[in-house]
Amino acid sequence: MERFEYIKEKINRFGQGHLLSFYNVLNPKEKEALINQINEIDFEDIEIASSQLSIPLNNKREIVPIEYESVLSLTDSKRKMYEEHGLKLLKEKKVAVVLIAGGQGTRLGHDGPKGTVSIGVSSNQSLFALQAERLQKIEEKTKSIIPWYIMTSPINELETKKFFKDNDYFNCNPRQIFFFKQELIPTLTTNGKIILESKSKISMAPNGNGGVFASMKSSGILKDLKMKGIKWVFFNNIDNALVQVADPLFIGFADKKGTEVSSKSVKKREPGEKVGVFCLSEGKPSVIEYSEMSKEESEGEKFTNANIGIHLFQLSFLEKTMDVKLPYHFAHKVIPSVNELGQTIRSIEPNGYKLEKFYFDIFQYAENMSVLQVIRENEFAPVKNRIGLDSLETARKMILQNNKRDKF
Ligand code: UD1
Repeated sequence: MERFEYIKEKINRFGQGHLLSFYNVLNPKEKEALINQINEIDFEDIEIASSQLSIPLNNKREIVPIEYESVLSLTDSKRKMYEEHGLKLLKEKKVAVVLIAGGQGTRLGHDGPKGTVSIGVSSNQSLFALQAERLQKIEEKTKSIIPWYIMTSPINELETKKFFKDNDYFNCNPRQIFFFKQELIPTLTTNGKIILESKSKISMAPNGNGGVFASMKSSGILKDLKMKGIKWVFFNNIDNALVQVADPLFIGFADKKGTEVSSKSVKKREPGEKVGVFCLSEGKPSVIEYSEMSKEESEGEKFTNANIGIHLFQLSFLEKTMDVKLPYHFAHKVIPSVNELGQTIRSIEPNGYKLEKFYFDIFQYAENMSVLQVIRENEFAPVKNRIGLDSLETARKMILQNNKRDKF
């Protein structure tokens, strides 16, 4: 009872007293589940997030394009030098890969983790299988084993692990694969109240791919990387069917540049392409999402260097920034919620916010950053939509065309 009074006082203090509105009508099991859920919430963090809700988007920030080098401008000898240097680092076991795979395949009409979607080039070839295959090619070339860290979310963790097991880890050594998961965070109403999904359950959603750093720390991965003597951590998204996992050329490029962070980019396909772009915001390296730019900024000629979710971080940089609190971004969504009668309803219009951290918000803490612009046709086949642009079908076509072509 003491515990209950303490919790009640705490949530009232944070203006979230409504979470216990139905407490008296719950059975003992439901009561316990709700209290446990409340106990897991970082109310200070939620308070900071909800205070950011009312701040209008900062379109007044000073932004200019970031400098980049195009892979097309590299001489043959330079390209070879970068590639050989990258291979050397891989052979010396200085590189690990982190796959960001906390998202679901919902937008593709696929019920399950996005990585389990079959791309259909050969039978049952999933996005996970594709990435494992690419990793193995580099391993064969360098006669080394690359540690592979895979971030899931509490929503897709079990299914992801089962998929790997059922597929014999795609011929990887199960001991080179480490799963870890990002956290969930409550959803909020437009005035900053935590949403109850039912009488006894708080509505929670994954905290965005920027949750990766806190989870790498809490799961012991940062320590593990240090122990293994890793210098560079290669990050990539799950939904690019052409990603060159642990690309030696990119690793060599980043290491020779000596920057704390390095990213690959492509030239935007058209002004309205829904991607983030690289820039310096208030003088600091950043990616700004198309949705957080004015129409003139996102559709003009100035910001055309698109983020494709492929990055290299020096481990020392991740260690330096591990306790940084990244800001939240807010996605206005339809979120099932309980009404005064205790029934769960789904509104037609968006009724609340999902809170997401973006992992590129860490770039601003880097002393320096380098960007290598690569060729879209060789390296970027995003799988975002069920049909049409950036769909399974377009990705499949790009893979087939790419198999035929000589590439850099
Ligand atoms: C993302 C980038 C965008 C870039 C585009 C290229 C972000 C915020 N935006 O957009 O700048 O131009 O890719 O394709 O990264 N994920 C999690 N946990 C989450 C949410 C997402 O792990 O809570 C993962 C997804 O599994 C995926 C990656 O993050 O691997 C990016 O997915 P998504 O959030 O859908 O970003 P996009 O809108 O596609």
